[in-house]
Amino acid sequence: MSERALEVVEFLLTAHLYTDDRTLDENDLPPRYRRVFWADAGDDDDDDSSAAGIERPLVVTDSIARKATGVEHPWDAISDLMFTQREDFSGRLSLTQPEMALEWFVNRADYDRLVTNPTIAKAVEGRDDVDVTHEAAREQTRPIHADRVWIDSLLDEYFDDEDDAEMLDLVQVRAPEEIEMTLDDLVLTTDQEGEIHKLMKAIEHREYLAQIGLREIGKILFVGPPGTGKTTVSRALAHELGLPFVEVKLSMITSQYLGETAKNVEKTFEVAKRLSPCILFIDEFDSVAKTRRSDEHAALKRAVNTLLKSIDDISLIRDEVILIGATNHPDQLDSAAWRRFDEIVNFPKPDYGMRADILRVITNRMDIDEFDPEGIADVTEGLTGSDLRLVLREAVLEALTEERMELTQDDLLEAVADFEERDNLKNLDMMSDSSELVAGSDDGHDHSHDHADEHEGETQKDAGAAK
Ligand SMILES: Nc1ncnc2c1ncn2[C@@H]1O[C@H](COP(=O)(O)OP(=O)(O)OP(=O)(O)O)[C@@H](O)[C@H]1O
Ligand SMILES: [Mg+2]
Repeated sequence: MSERALEVVEFLLTAHLYTDDRTLDENDLPPRYRRVFWADAGDDDDDDSSAAGIERPLVVTDSIARKATGVEHPWDAISDLMFTQREDFSGRLSLTQPEMALEWFVNRADYDRLVTNPTIAKAVEGRDDVDVTHEAAREQTRPIHADRVWIDSLLDEYFDDEDDAEMLDLVQVRAPEEIEMTLDDLVLTTDQEGEIHKLMKAIEHREYLAQIGLREIGKILFVGPPGTGKTTVSRALAHELGLPFVEVKLSMITSQYLGETAKNVEKTFEVAKRLSPCILFIDEFDSVAKTRRSDEHAALKRAVNTLLKSIDDISLIRDEVILIGATNHPDQLDSAAWRRFDEIVNFPKPDYGMRADILRVITNRMDIDEFDPEGIADVTEGLTGSDLRLVLREAVLEALTEERMELTQDDLLEAVADFEERDNLKNLDMMSDSSELVAGSDDGHDHSHDHADEHEGETQKDAGAAK
């Protein structure tokens, strides 16, 4: 009961304080509140989409309070407090005595609650009985450009006509709040950690870098076999930095719209620029380099040149776009493409120690009897993080068929054996994928599976040895 009242009073107080203090901006509202008020602004003025945003006064009704707080019956939760009221006609909830409400709230709210609400933190900063500051709360609170509603409103604003809307078919835009795996969930090599740290520092100090004339930063290429975490690390970075994540598969752009490839490349970069600051992730980077060698298609050649030029033209310093490319086939990238990245990060298959760590991370919410990650790491040489995830899933599902929710080390070992049996089949699948790609590029060869298989193995070994 009192917990629910606390939720609703916090919401009412925030709406009241925010409405009164014009120096507060969207970033002073906790994301869960922003969302409801933002959505409202968008709904109200369809005719004027550019006015999307959070407008004062923040008016609270039962249903808005329910959305923001998750409390089923907000008014019931606070109706017996003497500083609250509900207008019968409009259904509006408000505070009759905001000062009293603030006292009531501060007496009950713990530090964690205060430090995640910059609006309230500002109102109580400097008091003897609280040690939270406005600045600390701002730092704890995710910036608004990490919110889905923010991204959607930008997309609405910038891509309203049909031609523009087509651009969005080519790319996937993710809000950092929607990204589930964070850097903490990933096991990284020292090298990877170093590069990521360097990138974060560069972003933090980008003004300084511009001042001293160092502009060649923020373009990174991730190189490694499938399932080693290239995509996941890129997304986790977006989450960590609170930036929108714009993802595009180069093969999609080139194979589906042959004639329009160059235009699509331009559009993709345009989307990233409009959403900046953001991360632009270009997956399957090699698929274009491959086509560069086949000179049948003038359209494709043009596309490649456009791609290289677009990469040259985009800058972290000027456009606030971080570019990350990813490839499974570094050997197929030509030097013109390589040169454009200022950092190359290797994603090798995990070694023994990493495999054990990955197993620890992916099982940390599972119940496993006699769990010995090193024992599994011993028998999973050559498996990637993604493979280990599949192994675990298999073990869990197997156990479920016996109505068991607790796993044993033996379950895991069995699942590893199963996985290895099916591994060949999986490889075949992957290869048929990539030979489709080659066929699409019209080089007239039908690469045999065997050959491609061998080749894949080599690339993977190389990446592992480089570590
Ligand atoms: N180093 C790692 N630590 C923890 N989990 C990992 C790691 N590497 C891979 N995984 C797991 O494998 C899954 C697949 O990884 P991801 O899709 O990022 O690989 P990828 O390198 O992008 O592969 P592809 O080249 O096929 O696109 C991730 O969701 C993650 O759960
Ligand atoms: Mg990937």
